[in-house]
Amino acid sequence: MSVRQRVLEMLENNKGRYLSGEKLAGELSVSRSAVWKAVKALQNEGYAIFAVTNKGYCLHADNDILSKQSIERHLGKFLHPFRIEVRRAVDSTNNVLKQEAAHGEKEGKVLIAEEQTRGKGRKNRRFFAPAGAGVYMSILLRPRLNAQDATFITAAAAVAVAKSIESVSGKRAKIKWVNDVYCDNKKVCGILTEASLDMESGGVEYAVLGIGVNVNPPAGGFPDELSGLAGSIFDSQSYDADARSRLAAQILQNFWDYYKNLAHKPFLSEYRERSMLLGRGIFVIEGDAVQKAQALDIDDNCRLVVRFEDNAEKALSSGEVSIKL
Ligand code: BTN
Repeated sequence: MSVRQRVLEMLENNKGRYLSGEKLAGELSVSRSAVWKAVKALQNEGYAIFAVTNKGYCLHADNDILSKQSIERHLGKFLHPFRIEVRRAVDSTNNVLKQEAAHGEKEGKVLIAEEQTRGKGRKNRRFFAPAGAGVYMSILLRPRLNAQDATFITAAAAVAVAKSIESVSGKRAKIKWVNDVYCDNKKVCGILTEASLDMESGGVEYAVLGIGVNVNPPAGGFPDELSGLAGSIFDSQSYDADARSRLAAQILQNFWDYYKNLAHKPFLSEYRERSMLLGRGIFVIEGDAVQKAQALDIDDNCRLVVRFEDNAEKALSSGEVSIKL
């Protein structure tokens, strides 16, 4: 780890408090001028660090830049395999991580971006991911699963996100099958899992789990086509500067707890409990066809069991459903 990274780690761990240059230098076994240079570099990157004679350095409590250090601070002693990298802007964290996976990157790499310039949604849609407004993150997994069971990754992630949103914001979070998370009837999170298959074994070679959460309202608002549909988990009053880091850490922790035992589907009962659809009238959209149906259940394979108006029942494994048209 560079001096810059270690200084940032200590400042994040003491956010809002002053640490003397002497203490930082002593703990890191470097000179005070090396500490000063690291602080300057961090300030130039936009970190709100106060430097006061006779007091030392303090990362302002309102500093709102996601970093490996700001997230790891909330992971604490939790045992995990994650190697976190945060970048300012990428086209899509899923795209970048897929390239790394193809070059042999190991399971557990997490790529987070402050902004995505071409965030990807399902069905070739775009995912709006403006700077500083959300947690846009991809996790590289190398599960021992066949292609069909890869859907369990997405379902586990949806439950992990919903639980994390609730513990960070106190808001009830529900899941719209198959993988959208809603608060107050607005979509606040989308999940896109992309897998590469091993043609010989029929198994998954790697999966990139992409999670995008709208945390605070975007500076310029949501684009017209999303307003009415998309929301953020906080408003500008209730949002605090550490919320994105806490949320990212919580999601990683909750997801890993499920992923470790994925074969036993420990997320399934909560996936059902949090469903927005069960017991409701819905529209099932398959290609150009739209049919009315009743959402009956989510089966053990995470398929949505529906009954159409002619009483025919079907278990849907993918596709689009809507509550209102
Ligand atoms: C959807 O709502 O259709 C899925 C959206 C998934 C967005 C996330 S943000 C992080 C990762 N990188 C991407 O380009 N997409 C996913």
